[in-house]
Amino acid sequence: MDLTLVDDLIDHPKIIEMRDHLHHGISKYDHIIRVTRFSYRIALWLNADVRVCTRAGMLHDINSRYGTLANHGEVAARWAAAQGEDPAVCEAIVSHMYPFAPAPTSREGWILTVADKAASMADLTAYVRGMLRGESQRRKRQLQLSDPFYRPKPKRLHRQRLRSALDLEI
Ligand SMILES: [Fe+2]
Ligand SMILES: [Fe+2]
Repeated sequence: MDLTLVDDLIDHPKIIEMRDHLHHGISKYDHIIRVTRFSYRIALWLNADVRVCTRAGMLHDINSRYGTLANHGEVAARWAAAQGEDPAVCEAIVSHMYPFAPAPTSREGWILTVADKAASMADLTAYVRGMLRGESQRRKRQLQLSDPFYRPKPKRLHRQRLRSALDLEI
């Protein structure tokens, strides 16, 4: 992947903070890097705008916790636009949750949408593979502690309370 396309983003605090955020059992940083790689490769393959696709991959889930499943693309696109990002990048980001969000309006938007879905499947595969060694569960527990947005689900909360009442290691 050509990192010069995102060299101003790779060390951005908003990108770095995602290392501590839980996203489908893995870190959100690992997810966005995978999406960025996939988006870059598909753009090359389809002769689309590689710069737009790569940057959209890096930025597509920023501040997603402030939105819903359907509209967090808008939240991320708004943030990107406020940073002066290319409107084509923002346009691609808005629709990455299609079919929960409106359909993409550009080829780059479609590429990001497909890259996000493919990366999510790859995230899941990596998670399941890591389960056999116990690494996935360990990493997930670390992320639950480091993620300021993480809230245990009610059932899990109940189990945690029960475990601490019984003085078991959580
Ligand atoms: Fe997303
Ligand atoms: Fe995503």
